Amino acid sequence: MEKNFSLRELNTFGFDVRARYFQELKTMDDIHELLQNPEFIACRGAMNRVLILSGGSNILFYDEFYDGFVVYPNLKGIEVLYENDETVMIRCYCGEVWKDFVDYTVSRNLYGLENLADIPGKVGAAPVQNIGAYGAEVKDAVYQVHTIDLITGQNKVFSNEECRFSYRNSIFKSKEYGVNKSKKYGVESRDLIFAVDFVLKKKTELKLDYGNIRNYLANNGITNPTIQNVAATVKAIRAEKLPEVGIVGSVGSFFQNAIVTIDKYQEIKELYPDVPSYPIDANNIKIPSGWLIDRAGWKGYRENHVGVWDKQALVLVHYGGGKPQEILDLMKKIQESVYNKFGIEIKPEVNIVGSYQLPVSS
Ligand code: EPU
Repeated sequence: MEKNFSLRELNTFGFDVRARYFQELKTMDDIHELLQNPEFIACRGAMNRVLILSGGSNILFYDEFYDGFVVYPNLKGIEVLYENDETVMIRCYCGEVWKDFVDYTVSRNLYGLENLADIPGKVGAAPVQNIGAYGAEVKDAVYQVHTIDLITGQNKVFSNEECRFSYRNSIFKSKEYGVNKSKKYGVESRDLIFAVDFVLKKKTELKLDYGNIRNYLANNGITNPTIQNVAATVKAIRAEKLPEVGIVGSVGSFFQNAIVTIDKYQEIKELYPDVPSYPIDANNIKIPSGWLIDRAGWKGYRENHVGVWDKQALVLVHYGGGKPQEILDLMKKIQESVYNKFGIEIKPEVNIVGSYQLPVSS
């Protein structure tokens, strides 16, 4: 266990936040030992100050000192559990880097994760927010999730259905389920995910309908794409729009896309006929928050150490040397401006951890 540990290398925003206690977990034995650690027990008990940190690519620390226990699960391993003519079941441990795991599946012509190529982060975090991109979500390939309950020490298995996946959400993010119901200072879930079982397909099944995947392939003269072509296309589109992890501090999309009523959408469409949208259900429609922020004039905005990425307005960036508070101030300004212009409240997608509490939305 480390004390007063710098998390600068462990959050892709690159803020120099310190943790009172920090422990990397490389084996199942490490996890069981952690549950006996008096500091861990104290942090988990009285104050609920335990944070499970994975790749740190979707987290913003509110304070510069995390006064609690950061647990960093980093178990490695990939095992083929089962295969038949159509599918393969693979167990991947939480510490594997997500994009390397996707590359592994793509190189073996296993279909299901190729649209999720190059998403930063680790495998253990993928189910937590049901990562998604280019028309795919990880929930469609997750068979089950293996966890250890940080309170009882018991192993648990969550079936796909039990994970209660939805847009950027799962049971592992639910307040009712977490150790810390108020979510005031730390842990999202009492369950530490140590492995995920995926079911991937052996027969060609590509998703090409999202955004400009088809156009991109056509422009490059590819009429009959392979899984490798699709993964390469996704990587190229991402590289054009998103800041490079490790070079510019960011967490990908900072905000969630907005889900509004059809009436609200019609109102906006009358004023802005080019508003992009995606159907949700009979009453609701998704409007990209990147478009709202862009139209409110924020794209490329910079203030001291932070700003709005000039190629994708949904992404807030930290250019280095700044403090988390600067990002939070920018967040509030953007939220207010979008609300004043469109009457839509946009919510952060990033997990904000610390003494800060998100306003309760109506
Ligand atoms: N748009 C603008 N201006 C901008 C940004 C976007 O007008 O500055 C418009 C685009 O022209 C497009 C629409 O908004 O019509 C959607 O943009 P894009 O395809 O880039 O996707 P997004 O909805 O902004 C979501 C995910 C991304 C994911 C992409 C591709 C969320 C919160 N974000 O972004 O995920 O890569 O789709 O599937 O759902 C992440 O979660 O960190 C992330 C990067």
